Amino acid sequence: MSQEKIYDIPADFAARANISEADYQAMYQRSIDDPEGFWAEQAEKFLSWYKPWDRVLDWSYDADNLYIKWFEGGKLNVAYNCIDRHLEQRGDQTAIIWEGDDPNDAKHITYRELHEQVSKLANVLKERGINKGDRVCIYMPMIPEACYAMLACARIGAVHSVVFGGFSPESLKDRILDSDCRVVITADEGVRGGKHVPLKANTDKALEACPNVHTVLTVQRTGGKTQWHEKRDIWYHEAVANASADCPPEEMDAEDPLFILYTSGSTGKPKGVLHTTGGYLLYAAITTQYTFDLHEGDIYWCSADVGWVTGHSYLVYGPLANGTTTLSFEGVPTYPDASRFWQVIDKHKVSVFYTAPTAIRALMREGDEPVKKTSRDSLRLLGTVGEPINPEAWEWYYNVVGDGRCPIVDTWWQTETGGHMITPLPGATPLKPGSATRPFFGVKPGIIDTETNKLVEGDGEATGALVITRPWPGQMRTVYGDHQRFVETYFKTYPGYYFSGDGARRDADGYYWITGRMDDVLNISGHRMGTAEVESALVLHEKVAEAAVVGYPHDIKGQGIYAYVTTVKGVEPSDELKAELLDLVRQEIGPIAKPDIIQWAPGLPKTRSGKIMRRILRKIAENDLDNLGDTSTLADPAVVDDLIENRANK
Ligand code: WT7
Repeated sequence: MSQEKIYDIPADFAARANISEADYQAMYQRSIDDPEGFWAEQAEKFLSWYKPWDRVLDWSYDADNLYIKWFEGGKLNVAYNCIDRHLEQRGDQTAIIWEGDDPNDAKHITYRELHEQVSKLANVLKERGINKGDRVCIYMPMIPEACYAMLACARIGAVHSVVFGGFSPESLKDRILDSDCRVVITADEGVRGGKHVPLKANTDKALEACPNVHTVLTVQRTGGKTQWHEKRDIWYHEAVANASADCPPEEMDAEDPLFILYTSGSTGKPKGVLHTTGGYLLYAAITTQYTFDLHEGDIYWCSADVGWVTGHSYLVYGPLANGTTTLSFEGVPTYPDASRFWQVIDKHKVSVFYTAPTAIRALMREGDEPVKKTSRDSLRLLGTVGEPINPEAWEWYYNVVGDGRCPIVDTWWQTETGGHMITPLPGATPLKPGSATRPFFGVKPGIIDTETNKLVEGDGEATGALVITRPWPGQMRTVYGDHQRFVETYFKTYPGYYFSGDGARRDADGYYWITGRMDDVLNISGHRMGTAEVESALVLHEKVAEAAVVGYPHDIKGQGIYAYVTTVKGVEPSDELKAELLDLVRQEIGPIAKPDIIQWAPGLPKTRSGKIMRRILRKIAENDLDNLGDTSTLADPAVVDDLIENRANK
């Protein structure tokens, strides 16, 4: 092994783990040598099928004829797999523990209750004319009804598009229109950290521009006042009260769409990542089982919001497909105080906890005391997701939160990959803080040398662009409504491979170290944001001539948003204008996209052909002035001196 600090597998953990180191080696090798045989076995083991598939895998990564099909001809239903088949053995077991924003609010929902709630809601959707293949938008706070809504869609074969409750009416509108959703499920208000979020009012605003939406189902969460549109709006509780609890699941083809989830890219508006039924569910189920080393009786908590892919795969589909008890938390880590996460763990005896590095860093800043005053005895495994974790935060999570007993699984994956791609299996993988370690079964990563644009042969040390060389069941199938964009975004940079957009280093032990995005995508607190989206919002202001947005290292968020703004001729920059711009971004996208820093730029560094040199802007934002590189080719090299002189991050 190389010289990094290594954490061995605790002996008691290894003794009862589902996958040992020897198992990993053997199963991984098999999954690469005989992928179809391997995945056929797993599909039988993890899922229940109405009808077996005709063919395990059919694929082509050729840009002119790109397709990926898993288990074609196989028939199954996702809600059946996540609920019905567990009823006999687990009817009275808790499926979902809901922990409210207020520490006095909690609910346990059994698999039987989940079955009833989902079936009723599915019938409501049917009554409102929703059929197999129709799109339903879910714009919800973290309440059990959000899970019911996803599963109700799956039950009848409708395609859900969950939009994060922190997005603005404008973003909601774009997403509803792009996938032509006809129904929106929402709540009167969300509750987070004691504050109310006006979801229904946001929905009303968005729908001013969405004439095709004929039904809005609203959960009464707070009883706050809302406007009511007679024909269109129905109360969730009233509709469900009158609905039958008998709703046979729709038999879906393995390749029928399950959901669309919008995510940011380096250009244009967010794209609708499409996942299908069989491959996605299998991949969510198997990764949940093995990465989190699930055992009977585990209480599993993923702190992600259902608005992100982590909430889809590791709060809802993966855990429920395995018959696990999954905890859904409405609130935030710091409310009522910085001890909340650890108190929830004690209260519900959580054994597996999965969260984001940004939350760990924020809580680490509050010191050890809020952690140490809780017991956390129930914990046996910790996980992280969403961005690279710095070794300092890793060590704190390991030693303070986990008391040095619990392995940490640092899981690298993406909205596009459906589930974990590079991750430790806790009973099989010695850990190195900051490394996502080794590929999951069936995943064949590659490193492209960016000088030669060629795949580095073999499995030795390498640094470059991270690609995946062949399909895995959880892979996205297309960009909804724009297959060409799918091809262009992921398969054109390095022909024949799926390009992740990330850079990585592979060390001598075959461990992967993700170095971050290579494109103009930012990662703010584990949330993806395109620089182009923020720039488009800024230039909507009549006093803004031009804007360029880059990321810079941020202690808590991982990356912060740094915006260079040029005002139109004759307009003096002012704090007032700054406030207006922040508000504009909040309105256009949502609070998560608000720049941390706005620097007024009399001019932007451009090449003679007018292209903005982002590399230079990035270096100035990072305060890394020794590595500005060659500025002599700029149309006006003097603008750089002004930007350096007035940089905000000294
Ligand atoms: C991007 C994907 C994965 C679900 C949540 C985010 C970064 C994700 C890690 C990790 C280093 C990571 C990558 C990736 N990322 N996990 N463990 N270590 N970087 O999903 O919004 O689709 O973002 O998040 O840059 O490309 P997403």
